[in-house]
Amino acid sequence: MSDIQVKKLNVIFGKRKKEALKLLEQGLDKAEILNKTGCTVGVYDVNLEVKQGEIFVVMGLSGSGKSTLLRCFNRLISPTSGSIIMNGTDILKANDQELRQIRRKNMTMVFQHFGLLPHRTVSSNVAFGLEIQGLDEQERIKIAYKTIETVGLKGYEEQMTGQLSGGMQQRVGLARALATDPDVLLMDEAFSALDPLIRTNMQDELIQLQSKVKKTILFITHDLDEALKLGDRIAIMKDGKIVQIGTPEEILTNPADDYVKAFVENVDRGDIVTARSIMFENPASIRIDHDGPKVALRKMRKVGVTSLPVVDNDNRFLGFVKDEEMAALEHKGDVKMSEYMHAKKEVMAVEPETPVAELLPLFLDNIYNMAVVDKDKRLLGVVVHSSVIGEMIRKDQQEVVKIKEEGGLVL
Ligand SMILES: Nc1ncnc2c1ncn2[C@@H]1O[C@H](COP(=O)(O)OP(=O)(O)O)[C@@H](O)[C@H]1O
Ligand SMILES: [Mg+2]
Repeated sequence: MSDIQVKKLNVIFGKRKKEALKLLEQGLDKAEILNKTGCTVGVYDVNLEVKQGEIFVVMGLSGSGKSTLLRCFNRLISPTSGSIIMNGTDILKANDQELRQIRRKNMTMVFQHFGLLPHRTVSSNVAFGLEIQGLDEQERIKIAYKTIETVGLKGYEEQMTGQLSGGMQQRVGLARALATDPDVLLMDEAFSALDPLIRTNMQDELIQLQSKVKKTILFITHDLDEALKLGDRIAIMKDGKIVQIGTPEEILTNPADDYVKAFVENVDRGDIVTARSIMFENPASIRIDHDGPKVALRKMRKVGVTSLPVVDNDNRFLGFVKDEEMAALEHKGDVKMSEYMHAKKEVMAVEPETPVAELLPLFLDNIYNMAVVDKDKRLLGVVVHSSVIGEMIRKDQQEVVKIKEEGGLVL
């Protein structure tokens, strides 16, 4: 088991592949290539690394090359050039025997329309891959039953799959893929055919399941919400190319271009953007037994803030001091800062992973900025009011702009 590296992967459909590649290198786009050579660009210059045990999501509009990319992993499609390295060997150079091994054992696929045998029982469908591997019947059934239980279908083992609901059928699909205990699961729009509610349930269950089985999962979707929910990291594809790879937070915070922005604008950021991404790192602070009111005021004026966090000698957060109090104390000698420090800790410090949506109510009855601290209470950063509010209204603003552009709002 290891990470998978994809390097310079290209898939061109059509006869004049070499010519098409050359034109791609010269910067021509997908439409121009089709026009000039009759070739369709499936995937172009894809470089990425999938880490062992992560859910890596590939997202993009229909036709952007997601399925083509995924199908290179188990060689349902043969790339025009490039490499996919797994366990130190290039999958794209595997011979027929190695390829069979890869498809049966190392990587299994879960399809959008389940791909089950409707007139076979659940257990028989789940045992299908094991049957091909040549395991004896008793062993197959044992593993199948166990895997069926893992996906929450205990009791349904001997039902015909064709009689089950969509959600249940996809669980059978998942069980079938898991039964051979593969290193990698390839899931192509696996939940896209399900009703919204069932789809959400399946996403939750996949997350739970993954915490138990810890597979490497390549998950394809055209739905950003699904990508953000499931992905440890997300690659966004457009016209066969990857335009951005990042964690959900990175993608929401710094969309690489207008294409990504267009996806991101429709998302409720408040639950995903966290304190870490909007805090000021390594903020100015006051050391409790070391600095007095004069130093505090000087620092506040320099940074342009009205309060500063107070820390001990180990940089542990203790509370805040305010400018007006510091100004009143400025000429009083020998001030004990601890007496003038505000230390209502429960609302003054949050963890870096706190979603912005949870920060807003904290700010409503808090005149201070918010400290961001690690588990040992060490000061990591400061979040100021305006950043939180700015973050929360961003979505509304975008909606207003959108309505305006569509001519629905006169301001
Ligand atoms: N077998 C094929 N022959 C020719 N063109 C193909 C083939 N498969 C896919 N394509 C083209 O490659 C591009 C990427 O398709 P696909 O990978 O299916 O996109 P997605 O999965 O993102 O919807 C599309 O323009 C599609 O028409
Ligand atoms: Mg597809």
